Amino acid sequence: MPDLPVDMAQLTQHLAKINALSPDTSGQNRLVYSPGWVAAQRQLLAWGQELGLTVTLDDYGTVYLDLVGRVQPETIIATGSHMDTVVQGGPLDGLYGVLGGLQALLTLKQALGQPKKTLRVIAFSEEEGSRFPTTFSGSKHYARIEDTTGLKDKDGLDFDSARTAAVAQLAGPDIQRTLPKLPATFTELHIEQGPRLAAAKAQIGLVAAIVGQRRYTVTVTGVANHAGTTPMAQRQDAFQATVQFINRLFLLAQSLSPDLTFTVGELALTPNTVNVIPGKVVFTVDCRHTDTTVLDNFETLMGNTAALLSHDPLTISVSRWAKIPPVQLDQQLLAQNANLADQLQLSHLTLASGAGHDSQIMTQVTPTTMIFVPSIKGISHAPQEATATPDLLAGVQLLTASLYRQAY
Ligand code: GLV
Ligand code: MN
Ligand code: MN
Repeated sequence: MPDLPVDMAQLTQHLAKINALSPDTSGQNRLVYSPGWVAAQRQLLAWGQELGLTVTLDDYGTVYLDLVGRVQPETIIATGSHMDTVVQGGPLDGLYGVLGGLQALLTLKQALGQPKKTLRVIAFSEEEGSRFPTTFSGSKHYARIEDTTGLKDKDGLDFDSARTAAVAQLAGPDIQRTLPKLPATFTELHIEQGPRLAAAKAQIGLVAAIVGQRRYTVTVTGVANHAGTTPMAQRQDAFQATVQFINRLFLLAQSLSPDLTFTVGELALTPNTVNVIPGKVVFTVDCRHTDTTVLDNFETLMGNTAALLSHDPLTISVSRWAKIPPVQLDQQLLAQNANLADQLQLSHLTLASGAGHDSQIMTQVTPTTMIFVPSIKGISHAPQEATATPDLLAGVQLLTASLYRQAY
């Protein structure tokens, strides 16, 4: 393999520049189609143009930067990740895969010039499911698996209107507007977002599988009433029922499998005031496991428990809005990356991902693999999310080697 020196200073600058565009001081807030998200995708498009890449934007706001091949330009070797973040997210989730991918492509362009096949960096519009009740809408659209439509965010803003308005702000003269062809392979570089690589003292994680996940909205309806005059035995307190329900779910999750994750991340009381018994509570449930049967069983138990705790006029209703199956990623690409990591003398571990990724969607249409780097203290989806610079570099080095092997 030729010497492929990665310009880490440039990657650090790129990361800092995009992170500085986030409108809030508490972490990263690039929710899809928000002003911070538009600013980030616009910056990426500008870099693509400055660097002489072929720049494409699709109707969902996903950005594609191509270094076109000279022998088989129609064969595309793609890398990338997502540009959106969770609320108060970290500086690396998604962004590292996009800008690390760009750095790998620039390293190869600088060292070796035009590849035989086309190299593509993708910045998917949305992966997190943090604004609209949908996940992976960018990669689902690119993969021609599903189009997202008719959804509203918490402020009642409509997905299609938000999308069209945001994408209109990104369009420009030298930007192609199309849904590009699917790639021959897809490699996603990402932070681990958990503690396992650090514990194993491994620099690289090679992802064999990704957990399946389900997301639900639970609505508990009771009766709002006076906090001082309503006897305890006569209350239909929606929050009290919520606490009971959530406690039971925690126990059920533990009893089904120690690997079943169960999270209530969002909860809203109505009317949410000190001297009124809550008449309504709405909360979210996120649960994940590598085995669909475990997720099915948990869903059944959740429905049964909701029915058990509902007593007219108090009701608990559970509505599922995301059901993403667990997937196995490509074994050949994983083996090739293990081999390249050995050549680069990077220690590696094969593992399953507990986080969701666009690779979960891409693997349904093309051979797909993922490269992880360690997360300090395993923290992610929080402003403290970080990875040591040598580890960030190691991930890009491996990605560069992998793209070289596939495209030159
Ligand atoms: C996305 O990062 C998720 O796993 O929630
Ligand atoms: Mn991510
Ligand atoms: Mn994430």
